[in-house]
Amino acid sequence: MQKHFLKPLVFISGLLPAVILAWQFYADRLGANPIDEITDGTGTWTLRFLLITLMATPLKRLFGWGWPLHVRRMLGLFAFFYATLHLFTYLWLDQFFDWGEIGTDILKRPFITVGMLAFVLLLPLAMTSTRAMMRRLGRNWKALHQLAYVVPLLGVLHYWWLVKADVREPLVYGVVLIVLLAFRVRRGKVAVRTAARDRCAS
Ligand code: HEM
Repeated sequence: MQKHFLKPLVFISGLLPAVILAWQFYADRLGANPIDEITDGTGTWTLRFLLITLMATPLKRLFGWGWPLHVRRMLGLFAFFYATLHLFTYLWLDQFFDWGEIGTDILKRPFITVGMLAFVLLLPLAMTSTRAMMRRLGRNWKALHQLAYVVPLLGVLHYWWLVKADVREPLVYGVVLIVLLAFRVRRGKVAVRTAARDRCAS
């Protein structure tokens, strides 16, 4: 794919779910409970973008596709964008910035606690996503960005906890995440073995 088309294409595609949701809201097509629909839509897209971002490296390793790596940062920032919309839908449209109620919710409802934790851990990832921060943090950048696996894990848990009975959808996201994590662990083991072999040979 032409490199200069890739970023605009991914950018427009990433914005599309938000544009569709906004249009559906404006056109009164979100059913009886539009706030629930917006919360669910933005939450689902946060989780999807988190998982899509994690697919870039496996796609390169398995199929030699380099292009997902060129847009990985943008995809991660879209996850943050949808998470922010999701959080603000809750804070504003659901709770009307009633901080007492919000505090009680965070302490008393485990799925909100976990969602909030996921958002808090997503913040440093978004804030250190620039090349300048990557250079400044050096090795620590890689360590910090391991959180990219913890955040979707908390996201799946958050989803699992809130659906109560029918866990099929969070299960699908959970399985995708486990496959991606398994790939990561396997790659880590191979790297350790290769380093040990190189040390023995030298
Ligand atoms: C990275 C962070 C987060 C992810 C990945 C995430 C993901 C999701 C998902 C997938 C859903 C369900 C969508 C559906 O039912 O189709 C959801 C619902 C919800 N989330 Fe989050 N969420 C996150 C953070 C938060 C935060 C910070 C809050 C509030 C403090 C929050 C509050 C809610 C609420 C109130 C619902 C709707 C519950 C219901 O339908 O009864 N989430 N979220």
